[in-house]
Amino acid sequence: MEGQRPLSGRIWIQGSKNAALPILAACMLIPGKCVLRGCPDITDIECMCSLLKSTGASVAADFGMETGAGMVEVDTRSVREHRLPEKYVSAMRSSIIMMGAMLGRLGEVCVNYPGGCVIGERPIDLHLYGLEKLGAQIWIEGNHIHAYADELKGAVIEFPFSSVGATQNVILAAVTARGTTVIKNAAREPEVIELCKFLNAAGGRIDYSGTLLKAGRIVIQGVELSKLHGVVYDVISDRIVAGTYLFAALAAGGKVTLENIPIGQLDSICDTIRGMGAEMTIDTERNEMTINADDRDRIVNIPYIETNVYPDFPTDLQSPLLVAACMAKGKLAVREKIFSSRFRIVEELQRMGAEITVEGNTAIVTGGREMEGRTVIARELRGGAALVIAGLCASGITTVADSGYIRRGYQDIVGDFAQLGARISYVG
Ligand code: UD1
Repeated sequence: MEGQRPLSGRIWIQGSKNAALPILAACMLIPGKCVLRGCPDITDIECMCSLLKSTGASVAADFGMETGAGMVEVDTRSVREHRLPEKYVSAMRSSIIMMGAMLGRLGEVCVNYPGGCVIGERPIDLHLYGLEKLGAQIWIEGNHIHAYADELKGAVIEFPFSSVGATQNVILAAVTARGTTVIKNAAREPEVIELCKFLNAAGGRIDYSGTLLKAGRIVIQGVELSKLHGVVYDVISDRIVAGTYLFAALAAGGKVTLENIPIGQLDSICDTIRGMGAEMTIDTERNEMTINADDRDRIVNIPYIETNVYPDFPTDLQSPLLVAACMAKGKLAVREKIFSSRFRIVEELQRMGAEITVEGNTAIVTGGREMEGRTVIARELRGGAALVIAGLCASGITTVADSGYIRRGYQDIVGDFAQLGARISYVG
């Protein structure tokens, strides 16, 4: 990409990766045909579809514009295999949530330790704790985790802290468990709510009402497996992709309208962007949001921000925020509270001329330094997207190597930025 050109125009926000993945896993529970509309065309979804197929499910995906963009049809009536292939599980951490669904459906699952983005320690102890509380026997053999349950039974599961994946895993296992399950300290991310909505539409009985959720609780009344039925479901749009493009406009300047935004899920992001001096307007009727960051004199850093669980500032947008901070005047301290090693792009940004120091889990950015184009290496999904933003801000040419990481979560980041007037293309 050739940087230093403001962005301008409109783009459509794709369906949410983190909502679609657990919903696809949930299809495993349902002995029928489910159709997901608005599924993003990304490699993590391909990987999840391959996992489903490996169990015997039939999966048809159609990402062609003419025939219904992002339609994935899953029919699990012929599922029989409880062992998940290492190839796919190692490629994607969220494959671990297949455990809960497969225990509910087959009473058995064998899976290797999951892979995923290298953003620090990512243990799965809370997942295993929750499943064991529901009555699963779990044993580890080498790199493989086996789980077995004659019958899952509802239980009170109190997590020591909130985990999106562990909450989703327990929900999946509890939907067809006998009796009632109460999850305390449940994650409240919109992607957890979407999973509950999908399962309820398919015949599940999950209570995630406002007052319960405020107290961090989700209550699941188990239903018989045979009571679950196929459903057609629309995937919500991706709040992290929307946020990435907002920070791109904040960093590179310009005026950008996002269409198909998840209204109400972007509050902490909008507050941060407004605090940094850009104008934001939201059209709730048209589901659109516009950022205007044209007046560069007004773009300044706020002193401090920390990542935290929803509805606070999301860890997945910490890297795009760092790049925007590099392009604003003044200093910003960013504290990463969710993952232990999520400043991996700092070194690459420093090589481009950014002034950033890292002390423990806090990065301090001194903005306003000139950034120069370089060849930089993507090491994970969101950091990779942030490096593209950095390239759009830097002088000269930037090449982002190993951009395959970005395809895990962004349908067409190059096409989207080109549509906004950036000089950018895929090479190789
Ligand atoms: C999900 C999202 C990811 C996002 C993250 C936090 C998906 C596919 N991924 O990841 O994009 O960055 O939420 O919003 O939806 N932990 C444990 N033990 C466990 C599980 C988690 O200690 O068994 C810790 C993690 O190391 C981390 C914290 O809990 O420090 C939160 O992780 P979690 O919410 O589980 O993230 P994921 O579900 O992996």
